[in-house]
Amino acid sequence: MTALLEARGLRVEYGATVALDAIDLALAAGSRTAVMGPSGSGKSSLVHALAGIVPLSAGEVWLEGGRLDTLSEARRSRARLARMGMVFQFGDLVPELTLVENVMLPLQVLGTRAATARRRAVEVLEQVGVAEVADRRIGAVSGGQAQRAAVARALAHRPAIVLADEPTGALDTVSSEQVMDALTRLSVDQGTALVVVTHDHRVAAHLDDVVVVRDGRISVGIPA
Ligand SMILES: Nc1ncnc2c1ncn2[C@@H]1O[C@H](COP(=O)(O)OP(=O)(O)OP(=O)(O)O)[C@@H](O)[C@H]1O
Ligand SMILES: [Mg+2]
Repeated sequence: MTALLEARGLRVEYGATVALDAIDLALAAGSRTAVMGPSGSGKSSLVHALAGIVPLSAGEVWLEGGRLDTLSEARRSRARLARMGMVFQFGDLVPELTLVENVMLPLQVLGTRAATARRRAVEVLEQVGVAEVADRRIGAVSGGQAQRAAVARALAHRPAIVLADEPTGALDTVSSEQVMDALTRLSVDQGTALVVVTHDHRVAAHLDDVVVVRDGRISVGIPA
């Protein structure tokens, strides 16, 4: 089967630091993958490389049968917006906007009418358990509530692929389960390929495959 998203021989360098090397990874529709490994091993770099956000020193990224890494910046952004849902480790919500407005934003950029976007935004905010603060500004909610809004935003347009970098890092067990349920439900219902970076074995237990990154390489085996 053709992979939805595939990395071939990926290498990422930041100056003299080799963050990733010789990464081969193929993600099929409906696959659910945990990315684990020590701090600084290259997990965020891997997610950003798969999303076409960081430039590659070597290798290729293929999205739905076409090269992603060689597209222009504008086309890469468009492909990411339309086909992927991203949850960033350090958040990138707009603090001045409400939770609902943040979740509506990508839907509206993709051409969804405001009323429809709002309805969908409220629905996904409910799924991750923050509907009661939906109309508060991001700047006026807790870190965990903001993190759940970031997950809701990544799910809202029902993307083909979700790349989530420690989406439960700031969450208690109950909220964490809620987020993982929302992510896996989307994957089961829509065949979304799910990639979740996590240090938490309870989070990884929701997923089917585990990839362990060590010193910038994928090491097969049971995570430490
Ligand atoms: N913008 C950057 N400039 C220089 N070096 C970087 C940059 N981003 C990451 N690195 C380095 O690349 C390596 C991989 O970093 P990365 O952020 O991918 O690790 P990680 O596995 O996500 O870690 P963590 O679990 O702490 O989030 C590390 O050595 C890190 O210091
Ligand atoms: Mg990281």
